[in-house]
Amino acid sequence: MDISITVTNRDNKTKKIIAPTDMNLNLMEILKVYEYPIEGTCGGMALCASCHIFINSKHDLPAISLSEKAILDDNWDTQPNSRLACQIPISKKIDLINIRLAPEI
Ligand code: FES
Repeated sequence: MDISITVTNRDNKTKKIIAPTDMNLNLMEILKVYEYPIEGTCGGMALCASCHIFINSKHDLPAISLSEKAILDDNWDTQPNSRLACQIPISKKIDLINIRLAPEI
């Protein structure tokens, strides 16, 4: 199945993208596929914060791991709705999620 994700880029442009749930991808990887300016420097290990996003919708997301929490706690622009995109698998649970890219680090 495909899900729909609404993404607001750093230039404030909002677009809907489509992501497949059957390819074992996470949100960071799908943002890279669509050429959003997300580095994913650590390869999705919750170590770099380059995939920091804000979640603007209510979804049942995976719990924040200790390493994700540590990275977000260290980050200057972390908000209550901050997450690392690499820690969120593409699944039907996040269909219609609405996210915003955090400022560049
Ligand atoms: S890609 Fe490094 S923390 Fe997500």
